[in-house]
Amino acid sequence: MTDRLAGKVALVTGAGGGIGRGIAQRFAREGAAVGVLDRLADGVEATVRAIQDAGGKAAALVCDLREPEQVQAAVNQLRTTFGPVNVVVNNAAVMPSGKLHEVSLADWDRVFDVNVRGAYLVCREVIPDMIAHGGGSIIHMASVTGVLGLPGIAAYSATKGALIALTRSMSTDYAAQGIRVNSVSPGTIDSPMLHDFLAQQRDPAMRRAEFDAMHPIGRVGTIDEVASVFVFLASDEASFVTGANYTVDGGLSVKGEQPQD
Ligand SMILES: NC(=O)c1ccc[n+]([C@@H]2O[C@H](COP(=O)([O-])OP(=O)(O)OC[C@H]3O[C@@H](n4cnc5c(N)ncnc54)[C@H](O)[C@@H]3O)[C@@H](O)[C@H]2O)c1
Repeated sequence: MTDRLAGKVALVTGAGGGIGRGIAQRFAREGAAVGVLDRLADGVEATVRAIQDAGGKAAALVCDLREPEQVQAAVNQLRTTFGPVNVVVNNAAVMPSGKLHEVSLADWDRVFDVNVRGAYLVCREVIPDMIAHGGGSIIHMASVTGVLGLPGIAAYSATKGALIALTRSMSTDYAAQGIRVNSVSPGTIDSPMLHDFLAQQRDPAMRRAEFDAMHPIGRVGTIDEVASVFVFLASDEASFVTGANYTVDGGLSVKGEQPQD
C-alpha cells in the first residue's frame, strides 16, 4: 500500500470483474475502503475476497443498478460499514452491438438504463453526503467510442457520449461544493470483455493483432494502466482537475491517416 487514498471511502460499480475489479483492487491497495458493487454475487464475492486477502478493506454490495431501491440500499450499507462515500466510480456497463436500426428497443433501454441512468441513480444517492462532508471525486467510465465513430456499437457509443456530457455539466454544478467530476475514456483494453469478443471471431489471433495495430502505441492497454488514471483522479493529487475527459488509449483518438503510395 502506498496510501494515496488513505481515509477515503470509494464506491466502484461493475466491480465484480474486468476493469472495475482492477480499479477496486488498486483503490484498496492505496488505502481506500471500497464498496464493491455488481449485479453478480459471485463476482462481488471474488473481488472482496481478493482485496481482503491482500489486507485491504472491502464491502460486498450486490445490486442491480436498474433498481433505484437497490442502489439506495447499497449506498446506505456502504455508509453504515465505512462512513460516507468520498469517491464514486461509475464503471458498470453493458454493450449491445449493432447499427442503430438493428438495435432492439429492449436493448436500447437496457444500455441507457445501466450505463447512464445507473450513474444518475448512484450520483443522486452520494452527492448530498459529499456536499455535507466537504466534497469528493466522481469518475464516470466513458470510452473513446463516446467521441469516435467506431462501427457497430451505436447505442453503447451514445451512452458513453452522454457520460462525457454529464461530466462537463456536473463539474460546473458542483465545483463550488468541492466535488470534482471527471471521465476516463479507454481505448481497447486487455480484459475479459475483449477475450469474449475475440473468442467469437473466426481468427482470434488475427483480430487481436488488428486491435494491437489500431493503437499507435502498438498494443491494447492493460487494466492496470486504466486503474492508474482512476487512482490519480480519485486522489487529492488531482485537486485542480474537474470537467476533464482523460483518454487512456495509446494515441488511438488522435491518430490521423496518411494516404499510402
Ligand atoms: N474492455 C474494454 O476494452 C473497454 C474499453 C473502453 C471502455 N470500457 C468500459 O470499461 C467499463 C468496464 O468494462 P469491462 O471491460 O470490465 O466490462 P465487463 O463486462 O467485464 O464489466 C462490466 C461489469 O458491469 C456489471 N453490470 C452490468 N450490468 C449491471 C447492472 N445492471 N447492475 C450492476 N452491475 C452491472 C457486470 O456484471 C460486469 O461485472 C465499462 O464501462 C466499459 O464500457 C471497456
